[in-house]
Amino acid sequence: MIVTTRHEAPPEVQEQARTFACKFGVRFVERKKMSIARLHEMSDYILVVTDNGLRAYSKGTSEPFFFHPGMAMLRIKRLLNGDTDVMVQACGLRKGDSFLDCTLGLAADSIVASFVVGTEGRIVGLESERIPGIIVEEGLKRYESPLQEAQEAMRRIEVVPMHHLTFLRQCENNSFDIVYFDPMFFQAIVTSESIAPLRPFANYESLSLAAIEEAKRVARRRIVMKNHRESPDFENFGFMRFKKMERAFTYGIIEVGGEAE
Ligand SMILES: C[S@@+](CC[C@H](N)C(=O)[O-])C[C@H]1O[C@@H](n2cnc3c(N)ncnc32)[C@H](O)[C@@H]1O
Repeated sequence: MIVTTRHEAPPEVQEQARTFACKFGVRFVERKKMSIARLHEMSDYILVVTDNGLRAYSKGTSEPFFFHPGMAMLRIKRLLNGDTDVMVQACGLRKGDSFLDCTLGLAADSIVASFVVGTEGRIVGLESERIPGIIVEEGLKRYESPLQEAQEAMRRIEVVPMHHLTFLRQCENNSFDIVYFDPMFFQAIVTSESIAPLRPFANYESLSLAAIEEAKRVARRRIVMKNHRESPDFENFGFMRFKKMERAFTYGIIEVGGEAE
């Protein structure tokens, strides 16, 4: 990975890019008049600092990857209007809960969870891949939303750039109310526009039994997995399917605290 700026960036953006390069221990390249294709001759992954945040370009794809809360805004608006949200229901989330998102991605689910648990709750989002981790952590800190509740929810999320198995192994027993998984594996075979720019940068590992076993120790109430409804992982890992859904995805639940709904 290399870090650069947009064309003709002002000194403050250049300085920000140098600081990022230093923080992540990667090379800063002055943009001059170089195109993205020219920069890709130096590295497969280019992180571009602009006045509006970070953009990542992977070799072979034309669309940049940048942070956007996507459906989280609409979902929060619906909750504010008194509607329900299937993920929130599947997790049995309530104010004050602690929620460990083991597959942060673009953080849409974490933003919604953060809104629900509020200031007394806690959201930790784990991302194993470097570029999504950087882009989403920065985006959650800086994105300005007209919906105050959503912006505050974003700011409260703690991003940890770590593989979930490593993190789970370090956790105390019963340290999060909910442990949540939304792996890429089955998403890859289903069209999901909101997740498309993330694809070249994501981790496609399927969930491991080791991670589920650790999650059982770490979760106080529930482990929840979102996956393609045909995924064998629901049965393989002992998840109970959460009501029938018309969509390609569904949620699975493992109760660890005896609070089945
Ligand atoms: C399908 S996306 C999650 C989307 C997310 N729920 C949202 O609402 O935006 C899966 C993300 O989890 C990450 N991931 C996959 N395996 C992981 C692991 N073992 N540890 C941490 N992150 C992982 C991927 O890199 C990807 O960014």
